[in-house]
Amino acid sequence: GLKIVTIGGGSSYTPELIEGFIKRYEDLPVKELWLVDIEEGAGKLKIIGDLAKRMVKKAGVQLEIHLTLNREEALKGADFVTTQFRVGFLEARAKDERIPLKYGVIGQETNGPGGLFKALRTIPVILQIAEEMERLCPDAWLINFTNPAGIVTEAVLRYSHFKKVIGLCNIPIGMKMKIASFLGESPEDIQIDFAGLNHMVFGLNVYRKGENITKDLIEMKSGGEESGMSVKNIEDIPWEPEFLKGLGIFPCPYHRYYYQTSKMLEEEMKASKEKGVRAEVVKQIEEELFKEYQNVSLDVKPPQLEKRGGAYYSDAACSLIDSIYNNRGDVQTVNTKNNGAISSLPRDSAVEINCIITKDGPKPIAIGDLPVSVRGLVQQIKSFERLTAEAATTGDYQTALVAMTINPLVPSDTLAKVILDEMLEAHKEYLPQF
Ligand code: NAD
Ligand code: G6P
Ligand code: MN
Ligand code: MN
Repeated sequence: GLKIVTIGGGSSYTPELIEGFIKRYEDLPVKELWLVDIEEGAGKLKIIGDLAKRMVKKAGVQLEIHLTLNREEALKGADFVTTQFRVGFLEARAKDERIPLKYGVIGQETNGPGGLFKALRTIPVILQIAEEMERLCPDAWLINFTNPAGIVTEAVLRYSHFKKVIGLCNIPIGMKMKIASFLGESPEDIQIDFAGLNHMVFGLNVYRKGENITKDLIEMKSGGEESGMSVKNIEDIPWEPEFLKGLGIFPCPYHRYYYQTSKMLEEEMKASKEKGVRAEVVKQIEEELFKEYQNVSLDVKPPQLEKRGGAYYSDAACSLIDSIYNNRGDVQTVNTKNNGAISSLPRDSAVEINCIITKDGPKPIAIGDLPVSVRGLVQQIKSFERLTAEAATTGDYQTALVAMTINPLVPSDTLAKVILDEMLEAHKEYLPQF
C-alpha cells in the first residue's frame, strides 16, 4: 500500500483530497495518509482529521489517517508528498492583497507584489521540505499546490538537489470542465492544448472528439457576456469580443489582471470596501466550513466548499498520483521543467503544459513557440518569476526590487520600492532570509 503525506493538512480543501482517494481506492491503494501541520494549525488539523476518519469509515476503505506536527516523522518512507500550506496564514494573504491596493496596484495572492511576497515567504519552507525529502523519501514525488505554484516549482528545480517536483493548479482542468459543460459534452470528449505558465496558461486549441473546434468555440464565446469559465475568486468580467477573436486562443481567468488591469483594479477597490479583500471573504467561508466540519453526522464533503476557488483541486492531485503510480500515459496539465517544449522559454524553467504522465513523471508535449501576441508577456512574467525565486533564496534586496519593478502590474521603480519596503516590514516575521 502507498504512503501519502499532505503538508498543510489542516486546509479546508483536505476533505476533497480524502474524497478523491476514496473514489480511486481500487486503482490507487492508499494505505496511510499522513496529514501534517504546524502548532498554530493543530486545532484545524484535529477537526479535519476527525472528519477524514468519518469519511473513510463510511466509505468502508482500509485507509489509515495519521495526524502529526512532526514533518520528518511523516516524510519517512513516503511515496507521494502533496503540499497545500499557507505560510503566514490568511492574515499574510490579506496584507498581500491590501498593501498594493493602497497604492493603486493590483493586490492578489499570486500576481504582482502579492505573488512576489507569497513566494518570498513560501520558498524557504519548500526548499527545507525538499531537503528533508532527499534524506527521508528520495524516491517520492513532491506534488506542490502551494502558491504561487509556478514560482515555487521554479525554485525547487533551480535551488534544490531534489528534482522530483510537480506543480499543480486547478485552472486547466477547471477550464476543460467548463467548456465541456458549455458544449454539453462529457469531459473525456474535450481536449485542450494548454501551454504557458501557472496562472498565465493559454488554451491554444480545443478539440471535441478529436476535431479542432477552437475557432467556432471562440466565436461562441465572443458575445460580450460573462465567459462562464472563471473561478470563484476572480470576477468574470467579459472580454472585448474582437480582442478574443483576434487573439484566437483562450486566456485563463488570471489574464484579466494583465489585459483588464484598470477594470480589475476598480473591481478590487469596490470589493475591498464592500466585503473586504478576498482573504477576508475566505476567512468567513472558512469559519462556516469548519463549523460544518465539526458536525459529527457529517461524513462526506460539504457543498459549501464550492465557494472556494480551488474546485477540482483534488481531482487534479489524485489523477496525477494515479497516473504516475499506474503508469497510465494519459495527458494532464502540470508545472514541470520545460526541456524545450515551449521554445520561447528557458529550457530549465518551470512551465505549465500538457504532459504525458508516466511512472517516471511528466513528459512535456512540445508546442514550439507561443503565438507572438502573448509571447512577450509570458517571457516577462518568467523573468519576474526567476528573479523572485532568486531573491527568495538569497534575501537580496536589490534583486527583490528589480523583480517588483519589472512586474507588469507595477508602474515605477519608486512605487515598487515604497511597496517593497512596506511589505518587507509587514511580513518580516515570515522572511528570515531578509
Ligand atoms: P490555509 O490557510 O487553510 O492553510 C492550510 C494549512 O497550512 C493550515 O492548516 C496552516 O496551519 C498550515 N500551515 C501554515 N504554515 C505552514 C507551514 N510552514 N508548514 C506546514 N503547514 C503550514 O490554506 P488553503 O486556503 O487551504 O490553501 C493552501 C495553499 O494551497 C495556499 O498556498 C493556496 O494558495 C494553495 N492553493 C493552490 C491551488 C492551486 O491551484 N495550486 C488551489 C487551492 C489552494
Ligand atoms: C484558484 C487558483 C488557486 C487559488 C484559488 C484561490 O482556483 O487556481 O491557485 O489558490 O483559486 O481560491 P480562494 O478561495 O482561496 O480565493
Ligand atoms: Mn492555481
Ligand atoms: Mn513594471
